[in-house]
Amino acid sequence: MEGLNKIAILTSGGDAPGMNSAIRAVVYSATGAGIEVVGILRGYEGLIDWETIPLTRETVRNINNRGGTILYSSRSERFLEKKYQQQAVNHLKRNQIDALVVIGGDGSLRGAIDLKKEGVNVMCIPGTIDRDVCCTEYTIGFDTAANSATEAIDKIRDSSVSHGRCSVVEVMGRKRGYIALWAGMAASADAILLPEKWDGNYEPLLQSLQQHYDEGRKDYLVVVAEGITNAPELAELIRERTGIESRVSVLGYIQRGGNPTAKDRMYGSLMGAYSVELLTKGKVGRIVAIKQDLLVDYKLDEALSIQNNQLDSFQYDLSLRLSE
Ligand code: F6P
Repeated sequence: MEGLNKIAILTSGGDAPGMNSAIRAVVYSATGAGIEVVGILRGYEGLIDWETIPLTRETVRNINNRGGTILYSSRSERFLEKKYQQQAVNHLKRNQIDALVVIGGDGSLRGAIDLKKEGVNVMCIPGTIDRDVCCTEYTIGFDTAANSATEAIDKIRDSSVSHGRCSVVEVMGRKRGYIALWAGMAASADAILLPEKWDGNYEPLLQSLQQHYDEGRKDYLVVVAEGITNAPELAELIRERTGIESRVSVLGYIQRGGNPTAKDRMYGSLMGAYSVELLTKGKVGRIVAIKQDLLVDYKLDEALSIQNNQLDSFQYDLSLRLSE
């Protein structure tokens, strides 16, 4: 890209393990090409208020293993308003920022579309534990979250077996069930409830649970995606309808934190470096994605207009065959 001298980078929405690797790779790639990098703090909030730090190789040296994001994050209500978007654009212009790299989930990437409409050269990287950005097979943070959830569910199972109880575990994922599917299968849950497949009918679950106990087994593990219902409500329903003693665990933010897995560090690094490569080739208004395990890029607005609520059917069918 002609005149690519200074870029800015921000992380927005729910933090995701591996975001730091993406930041680091952006900084190494950009500075290696003689491009200055400005870090914007607290996502779009910091863009509105122009809260920034210079990013150098030295600043990002030892961050690959760190969870969260060194640039901090936010869910900016203000950025939904045109006047604040305009304020952000003015900061970018005044500070001679030639391109902005945005790392985040669906909502954050839609914020980048608004900036693009205002003439900002944006480049997006999908980073969210939910894996709910449809144009890509992978989003930074998912692997760590799925592993953290699996580890927690394994521990819950130990207690569940010891006491002969039913455990209901709620995992994150917003409207998608990827964390539930992967952690549920990995931890061999007896039932996994996924938003993508949910028809609102609890009867099959209650019947399977009852039959399980009638046949003499004494522990049962249900993993429920937050997009369906909350775990306390489900446990209450189970108690009411079957009389089976049920305990609840809502895993919550432990799924967002923690040291990123090698996969998230690797994909963060790949996507970060690729985003700078695209910019240096003059490509803007794009989103980096993974397709068949390869790096690709799409036009941002077109890519985000694709709404796909499908789960891999083989994975889903297998999850049914491997549960009760
Ligand atoms: O998008 C990541 C995520 O952790 C979702 O799984 C969850 O629904 C949401 O963020 C929680 O958001 P907040 O951090 O605003 O409570």
